[in-house]
Amino acid sequence: MDTFSCDVLIVGGGGAGLRAAIAVAETYPSVSVTVISKVYPMRSHTVSAEGGAAAVIKSGDSLDAHAYDTISGSDWLCDQDAVEAFVREAPAEMLQLEHWGCPWSREPDGHVAVRPFGGMKVERTWFAADKTGFHMLHTLFQTSLKYEGIRRHDECFVTKLLMDDGRCQGVVAIELATGKIQAITAKAVVLCTGGCGKIFPFTTNANIKNGDGMALAYRAGAPLKDMEFVQYHPTGLPFTGILITEAARSEGGWLLNKDGYRYLQDYDLGTPEPTPVLRSMELGPRDRLSQAFVKEQEKERTMKGPYGDYVHLDVRHLGERKIDGKIPFVRELCLKYAGLDPVKDMIPVRPVVHYMMGGIHTDIHGATAMPGLYAAGEAACVSINGANRLGSNSLTELLVFGARAGKAAAVFASERGEPSPSVLAQAHDEQRRLEEQFLFKTSGKERIATVRQAMQETVEQSAGIYRDASALQQAEAKLQRLQERFRDVNLEDHSYTFNTELTAALELSYMLDLAQVIVGSALQRRESRGSHQRTDHPERNDGRFLAHSMAHRGEDGLPQIEYLPVTITRWPPGERVYGR
Ligand code: FUM
Repeated sequence: MDTFSCDVLIVGGGGAGLRAAIAVAETYPSVSVTVISKVYPMRSHTVSAEGGAAAVIKSGDSLDAHAYDTISGSDWLCDQDAVEAFVREAPAEMLQLEHWGCPWSREPDGHVAVRPFGGMKVERTWFAADKTGFHMLHTLFQTSLKYEGIRRHDECFVTKLLMDDGRCQGVVAIELATGKIQAITAKAVVLCTGGCGKIFPFTTNANIKNGDGMALAYRAGAPLKDMEFVQYHPTGLPFTGILITEAARSEGGWLLNKDGYRYLQDYDLGTPEPTPVLRSMELGPRDRLSQAFVKEQEKERTMKGPYGDYVHLDVRHLGERKIDGKIPFVRELCLKYAGLDPVKDMIPVRPVVHYMMGGIHTDIHGATAMPGLYAAGEAACVSINGANRLGSNSLTELLVFGARAGKAAAVFASERGEPSPSVLAQAHDEQRRLEEQFLFKTSGKERIATVRQAMQETVEQSAGIYRDASALQQAEAKLQRLQERFRDVNLEDHSYTFNTELTAALELSYMLDLAQVIVGSALQRRESRGSHQRTDHPERNDGRFLAHSMAHRGEDGLPQIEYLPVTITRWPPGERVYGR
């Protein structure tokens, strides 16, 4: 076993992880920082974000307006102190990225350009064409390379948090190239491992998004917050789930049903034509647009395809010049993955799982309930997204709260002594567990793909866009059986070098735990709010549920749900209004 130590260990090399690492290196140069990532950082999922990142920059906009859009978009479930910090720090973070070299798209006069985005009543989304995530990640990665103090362990898969005396003191990881176990001790650990969209069968998320950090924290005893809130993005390509960015609608694209009708005008989302104060209805919030798709489906006004029902996204009227200038990646994706050219053809689209509003419960400094453990980005729930995130808030969120979590972890680390040497014994136990449960085991009749597919179908059928108690209860029972079947999984690959079957098994075990949390939290929340729509409880119930669900792992391995009141500072709960 290889052993390493550092002051702050960051798990995840995407946007939040790199921003956290830079914050440590810049602000506390004497604190040593290591980034461990299961993929090379530029392959993290941030790279595939497309449409943009929100922050107030233009006259006519204000921090309060950004806060209000975020809070009402969240159906009042976000914490308003976190939102206020977020909107306040967002512009400086975005300018900082500019100074580090991020090529933001510009207006003809050279000012930073902004575009409208879903649920935002003002244009405030900065963008780099429609490859914003790629450019942001590239900027963060090359900036991180400037700091000699930032060490990296690329392609290392974390399997366990090292805990001692109730404090997180490092991780155990597999070095994928060799299969060797690494024990990395640290005074503070920051989880920046992204979301868990792969629990669902149809997602914009990369294969690496299995909720690793969420499951690691949950298993170590940290609660997961608001996990019932799963965002469907209204426009994914059927079959692959590849994202067709909201920017396509922000630039003027239309959603049409099988009759060629812009059906969103029937769903209280506004009129077809934007006015100076209202965006077009295609730029409504994602929860409402995805729900409208299901309603159209029920009215048999969607189209049938080999990969399920779909509607059309039409951008042909924008013309080739605008498409190539503002949304070139949409064209590239459609040509490569759907065999059509949006300059001439309509794009078939359907709602697709995109983002987890919930995650590891943190305070506004990224601190979890466990000393020494921090989280940021999609893995965390601060919470600024509540029951429905607004498009383009998440890229900014990973900057603001990545930096905050990095700094807080550095302060914690600088005030603490060395990790206890006894945690290394846990690393030996973990190595034994991996060998006995997977590598040396030759019995077992289950296959990973079969159990994973059953899990994905179960969550899609029960915890999709609409939910009810009966489907969720059945899902609870099915997931429990799948946990048992998982124990009978047998690997065919017993080697140590890049054993992707082993990592797939570990990822599945993370996802099964999280699927139980999603379903359990959805069952307990007997109301409809944002992305959580219960057909058996169709109203929002602020009296009972203006509160975050907090899922703790019980002794029996099942989630125990408690509630934590939402923090309201200046905006009392109200009606979400878009079309008026
Ligand atoms: O549609 C999009 O470009 C997605 C953006 C986001 O999720 O923030």
